[in-house]
Amino acid sequence: MKSTNITWHEGDVTRDDRARLLGQRGACVWFTGLSGSGKSTVAVALEKALLHAGRAVYRLDGDNVRHGLNANLGFSAEDRDENIRRIGEVARLFADAGLICLCSFVSPYRAARDNVRRLHEDAGLPFFEVFVDAPLDVLEQRDPKGLYRKARAGEIKNFTGLDAPFEPPAHAELVLPTHTLRVEQSVEQAAAMLRDAGVIDA
Ligand code: ADX
Repeated sequence: MKSTNITWHEGDVTRDDRARLLGQRGACVWFTGLSGSGKSTVAVALEKALLHAGRAVYRLDGDNVRHGLNANLGFSAEDRDENIRRIGEVARLFADAGLICLCSFVSPYRAARDNVRRLHEDAGLPFFEVFVDAPLDVLEQRDPKGLYRKARAGEIKNFTGLDAPFEPPAHAELVLPTHTLRVEQSVEQAAAMLRDAGVIDA
């Protein structure tokens, strides 16, 4: 932390006040997995389903956030950690504001994801890690952005799953093997997880 002489200033609106006004409590759903695993696809569909059910929900996505907030970051281990740290802070702000925040980031490092989990849990905000999982050969077949092909051709270095590591979650709240599930099934499983935890009502 570089800044000194700064003091936390508490507001007069409690989390309960906010929850009463919005009719919901904030939470963070964190999708992690390799590129092309289906994180964004499931998050987009879940966002739509929750919104149609009257929930206030917002989505943060790797490719999008890297166009703006994190445009100065690349794919070194250090930059990926900073990417996830910033997103974690933003997600916590959204959850604190009462939104269900859906985050889809490769987030290959367990420690970085655990930090985001701790950030939420320390603030009393529900955090759900969702491992979007599919075998590498399936991902290479899908290759929706042509990135695996480029990485295999040596045009992209440090590509997660090929020449950069991915550390699978040890205690994910939900695992979605997207090669065996339709998108609607993944959405239903994620929604059920939120219902079971009392984040949304039945
Ligand atoms: S993370 O590793 O820092 O969490 P993030 O989710 O923001 O990554 O961005 C990943 C997206 O960037 C991928 O879906 C892919 O489209 C693109 N990308 C570009 N280069 C790489 C790379 N070297 N490794 C992984 N993804 C990459």
